Amino acid sequence: MITVAQISDTHIRRPGLKAYGRVDTAAHLAAAVSHLNSLRPAPDIVLATGDLVDFGEAAEFAHFQRIVAPLAAPLWPIPGNHDGPAFWQAFPDAAARRRAEGEGYLVETGPLRVVLFDSTVPGAPFGDALDPDGGSRRLDWLDTVLAAAPERPVLLALHHPPFATGIAHMDRQNLRQPERLAAVLEHHPQVLAVTCGHVHRSVATQFAGRPALICPSPAHAVALDLDPDGAPGFAMEPPGLLMHAWRDTGGRFGSLVSHVVPVGSFPGPFPFYAADGSLLG
Ligand SMILES: [Fe+2]
Repeated sequence: MITVAQISDTHIRRPGLKAYGRVDTAAHLAAAVSHLNSLRPAPDIVLATGDLVDFGEAAEFAHFQRIVAPLAAPLWPIPGNHDGPAFWQAFPDAAARRRAEGEGYLVETGPLRVVLFDSTVPGAPFGDALDPDGGSRRLDWLDTVLAAAPERPVLLALHHPPFATGIAHMDRQNLRQPERLAAVLEHHPQVLAVTCGHVHRSVATQFAGRPALICPSPAHAVALDLDPDGAPGFAMEPPGLLMHAWRDTGGRFGSLVSHVVPVGSFPGPFPFYAADGSLLG
């Protein structure tokens, strides 16, 4: 089994500052790191799917790095719209892979390939499957990476969801040209799921015929408001992360199952008992 944990939208600020004056995102991320380190089996890798900091400041990235330093598993990040140009300087290992690869980068863990796709557009809250100049370099890179190993299962990760959630103010800033990304995936059935961030909620749908997910935030959630005229807002719902587990269950690509994991300490696990009081094994 290969386990890939995912955190997203941590929105770290400089030490001592809360997001929106209200959310202690540093404490929330520290709790997520502690939770990840407690999981058994331990995650093989941890993905961080963007908006890791709030305003793209180097001091914010330094703060993020200090908080995730105790993480036992290697962390592989991809930028979100809040991260800005300082992102790649803050993550030299990821930046080196990206320089070697091209537009995004790839992490291999056992037979599973995790492809990290940069969906950001400088200065814009929305993302795009196409390059900021309208080119298709990032999609061409994705197509080439996938074509290089057509029999290896893939989890594709990017910040901006390539689908609408019904939360109108977020849908206005999701991934543009999603049909172009879908067209690439049509040729690559080994992409078992597409996982994103940006919306701070656990969301599941289909994209290009695959499961498509949004990872919750370990801090604040975007409020669930399906009113088309709903105003932006956030709520302090239970923090969460995703745990993707790939297993070789036979078939061409094995199976990928994604679990939503609330972050925190909870009573249990407790045993189950049958009606006669005997312990269920
Ligand atoms: Fe975002």
